[in-house]
Amino acid sequence: MQSLKEKIQALDAEVKAVVADASADAEQFRIRFLGAKGAVKSLFADMKDVLPADRKEAGALLNAFKEAVELSYADLKAKIASSRTVVPVLDYSLPGSNITLGTRHPLRKVENQMVSIFERLGFTVATGPEIEDDYHNFTSLNMPEHHPARDMQDTFYVSKNPDLVLRTHTSSVQARIMEKQKPPIRVICPGRVYRNETISARAHCFFHQCEGLYIAENVSFADLKQTLYHFVTEMFGADTKVRFRPSYFPFTEPSAEMDISCTVCAGKGCNLCKHSGWVEILGCGMVHPNVLKNFGVDPDKYSGFAFGMGVERITQVKYRVNDLRLYSQNDVRFLRQFQAG
Ligand code: DAH
Repeated sequence: MQSLKEKIQALDAEVKAVVADASADAEQFRIRFLGAKGAVKSLFADMKDVLPADRKEAGALLNAFKEAVELSYADLKAKIASSRTVVPVLDYSLPGSNITLGTRHPLRKVENQMVSIFERLGFTVATGPEIEDDYHNFTSLNMPEHHPARDMQDTFYVSKNPDLVLRTHTSSVQARIMEKQKPPIRVICPGRVYRNETISARAHCFFHQCEGLYIAENVSFADLKQTLYHFVTEMFGADTKVRFRPSYFPFTEPSAEMDISCTVCAGKGCNLCKHSGWVEILGCGMVHPNVLKNFGVDPDKYSGFAFGMGVERITQVKYRVNDLRLYSQNDVRFLRQFQAG
């Protein structure tokens, strides 16, 4: 009897130690104590050696131990289950989260549209340097030194000798193309230009232009008008009206500015068109014979037209952006309003 009691006490201590052990394994516990060859079973087998007088007490002791082991086993299982890391259940039927796509900058978007409209008319794209020499930006375009028209463009000067400036317009690319290519020439030249202006909603020290140049035999003002009219209807819609007003540019003669019927009020009068019903979008004209001669093109044989428009201006009219600063502030709330494309 004494030895059974001692065995139970020793096993009880073992049970308590296992239950207290954080890394305990419930199944091993069950096999060790409650299994077919487990400790409890063997204690019951030991009962046959207990003296009959002690059997009652021994039986009660053993049953109590068995119950305590079973309770410990249940405790151990519960403890292990609650300590297991919770794996989140995935619900595959939920809608996925969107991948946010970037948008194209509005100026690039409009420039791309311009390029594709003119490409369909047979124009190719040409580019030139933003740091330009005086000759290509001014002199060759019929603006010799001290010509008053130079004052129309507040120039950023880079150096005096050589005479370098930040190009004030993309007309400098016309000059570079005429220098390199013989007529027929049909190019558009999109790019960034610079002027020494105080930054405000209506002016900026850099902006973008798109220049057009067409030189061939028998090019007339009618060709210029039809080309630009086509551009306007593609860009702003078939109902848009155009008008040409006489103007002055040193590199074209005659020169004109082109207005379109206001895209906001359709001519009724609003802030965009300053209640006139018309908005100016570009300058244009027939390439001046002096400019042709500067590049060795015979003005008796060839004629051409040119035009230059502000990309910010076209974007403003098309998308009603009324502060030039928005284009360079990188505010995603502004930029996200334009779809990629
Ligand atoms: N270069 C002029 C400007 O920046 C725009 C311009 C007017 C370009 C008439 C032309 C043109 O090619 O023919 O204001």
